[in-house]
Amino acid sequence: MSETDKTESESEHNEEAQSGGSCSCGPVTPEARERAERITDLKIQALKRMEKIKYKIIIMSGKGGVGKSTVAANLALRLSMEGLRVGLMDVDITGPNIPKIMGLSKMGLEASEEGIIPVMVPPHLKVISMGFMTGDDKLPIIWRGPLKMTAIQQFVADVSWGELDYLIIDLPPGTGDEPLSVVQNIPDTDGIVIVSTPQELALLDSRKSLMFAQKVNIPVIGMIENMSTLKCPHCGKNIDMFKEGGAEKTAKEMEIPFLGRVPFDPDIVRDSDSGTPFILEHSKSEAAEAFQVIVDNIKKHLENKSKE
Ligand SMILES: Nc1ncnc2c1ncn2[C@@H]1O[C@H](COP(=O)(O)OP(=O)(O)OP(=O)(O)O)[C@@H](O)[C@H]1O
Ligand SMILES: [Mg+2]
Ligand SMILES: [Zn+2]
Repeated sequence: MSETDKTESESEHNEEAQSGGSCSCGPVTPEARERAERITDLKIQALKRMEKIKYKIIIMSGKGGVGKSTVAANLALRLSMEGLRVGLMDVDITGPNIPKIMGLSKMGLEASEEGIIPVMVPPHLKVISMGFMTGDDKLPIIWRGPLKMTAIQQFVADVSWGELDYLIIDLPPGTGDEPLSVVQNIPDTDGIVIVSTPQELALLDSRKSLMFAQKVNIPVIGMIENMSTLKCPHCGKNIDMFKEGGAEKTAKEMEIPFLGRVPFDPDIVRDSDSGTPFILEHSKSEAAEAFQVIVDNIKKHLENKSKE
């Protein structure tokens, strides 16, 4: 049989198989079986990986641009500065900001036998983001193709996170597909941290995050007020750009803990624009101290919970 003959008879065969196999009651195609097997593998793998992580924390907000990624990055760095082993998962699939904030924009990913190797930030921080995957040439083979659809699943299952004390998960705003996918794919998350500015609108929207948490049955660790005040560079007095204390009041009304307030600091903007990790660069600033207070409050919450 010549090469052309073979191709023709094969394509005929394929047409038959397709007309007989594409309806939902027909035989399962090898592709569909392979996909189903891959998803089952991912689930098993995800469980194994997540078992090695002590605490998993989700950072959420109702409104966009309130500083989730900034808070997530600085909390993760703060924890790792204390010698803890920390992972930071940027779940913003369409607009990942973590690489930019941390000065990792040029980084790509590689695979090892253990899985995809996250980008390492000294001292002990491992970062994964869709932002490391621009350009197929930078992407490990097993992550090309259907990645976007199952990205979050693969962030959990395929990444060699190793043993971690904390995994911080940065979400896009709102309560859409990504938050749902995170809670479906990451078993036993320890809690949700809600970030809000003291603006009325942002505070109203943070109730949606609370409702989401209640619906998926994940505890809320508490609320952070971000960009709360600006210290005047001339006289040192605090300027309330929105209304200071709004988030604390809202947290009280929602009966969730208030974790602390981070002042508006122009260095945060400058650092994130230049890709300098703020808390490393300005470790003595008021905002850095605020992140410290928040980390301590989160730890206290988690320790009390594990005592229960
Ligand atoms: N405490 C702060 N002081 C000054 N600027 C801040 C502070 N927190 C965040 N910013 C700035 O506000 C902007 C938005 O922050 P960020 O990207 O962290 O928000 P986000 O909630 O993650 O946004 P998105 O909803 O798009 O994911 C950034 O330019 C950031 O540098
Ligand atoms: Mg963000
Ligand atoms: Zn002044």
